[in-house]
Amino acid sequence: MLYKKFLEPFQGRSVISPPIWIMRQAGRYLPEYKKVRESLGGFLDLCYNPSKAAEVTLQPISRFDFDAAIIFSDILIIPHSLGLSVHFEQGEGPRVERVTNPEDLAKLKTDPDNEKLKKVYEAINLTRSRLPKEKALIGFVGSPWTVATYILEGKGGHDFVYSRQIAYSSPSFLSGLIEVITEQTTYHILGQINAGAEVIQLFDSWAGMLGEVEYEEFVIKPTVKIVSTVKKAYPNVPIIGFPRGSGFLYERYIEVTGVDGVGVDQLIPASKMKAWSEKIVVQGNLDNVILLCGKDAIARKVDEILSELRHIDHYKNFIFNLGHGILPETPIENVEFLVNYIRKNCA
Ligand code: CP3
Repeated sequence: MLYKKFLEPFQGRSVISPPIWIMRQAGRYLPEYKKVRESLGGFLDLCYNPSKAAEVTLQPISRFDFDAAIIFSDILIIPHSLGLSVHFEQGEGPRVERVTNPEDLAKLKTDPDNEKLKKVYEAINLTRSRLPKEKALIGFVGSPWTVATYILEGKGGHDFVYSRQIAYSSPSFLSGLIEVITEQTTYHILGQINAGAEVIQLFDSWAGMLGEVEYEEFVIKPTVKIVSTVKKAYPNVPIIGFPRGSGFLYERYIEVTGVDGVGVDQLIPASKMKAWSEKIVVQGNLDNVILLCGKDAIARKVDEILSELRHIDHYKNFIFNLGHGILPETPIENVEFLVNYIRKNCA
């Protein structure tokens, strides 16, 4: 069997240096990405162009030699594939056609054979054929709660007042919306694995917005459902859940969802990550802002994480990543420094 470093933690094996990838590693901090992006109309044209999507997926691998590629796409193609209009305004973020009452749920159409989703499978297929054999390919989706917030709000935000209001005041409507998203999301995961994705990440960027009871209902429950369905079809494909901002509720998520790995944000102490790594693969958790700082700060903060996660001369159940996606203003040389620093210090 071919050695893929990225998959080692999921097989319970130790590594001398931890596998590395960075959330949102293909994107606007890369000049080669911006060039491809400018050559096409809108952001969605790039998502639905398999050859260009494959090209930008491979860019950070060629430049930084990360251990895994993540397919270039977006979590908002799920609402798009359900029949809602989705636009990306330059400098303003996404705009999604809203669903705000139970009657509107009827206009959402789940469809395992969706033409938009099929473009992602073509991109995965193409990427896998071009990606070096020793690198893993990650497929992804947004988790239902996080996707629901964009459908409820019609755009991104910071505090999601309306979505939280719905969670507390109209839970059965939200359950109905989450159910539709869950079904389409499950199809999309199965489709990506079928096309060649070797690991799946569930981005629940706004998991931390909910109270304990609502977290159970809208984060835990749909995640359990998705993971158990996918595991029935593909028991050996690792699933990484990223319930960003979960705080104390991370432990509940780890305990019950059935994910193989957990993405940890920068608000969680590295000592906690180490404790969790006794039972699950942990991934994280360098603050993305540190990559805007000087090399000394980067080295110091990376040391803090590595020294906590190290087992004398090896790492187990640990993947190095940021606590959230890389910022567009990140200098490229800082990413180069980060990767070299980790590999040099673990050799
Ligand atoms: O990681 C990768 O390199 C793969 C590509 C990827 C994108 N979005 C491309 C993208 C991934 C994994 C995502 C996930 C995503 N999309 C999330 C979850 C992760 C997170 O950061 O919390 C969320 C919440 C979205 C929704 C979304 N897409 C927003 C809010 C925005 C606008 C803000 C922004 O970051 O630009 C997008 C647009 C988007 N998705 C861009 C990219 C490269 C920038 C658009 C452009 O190039 O014009």
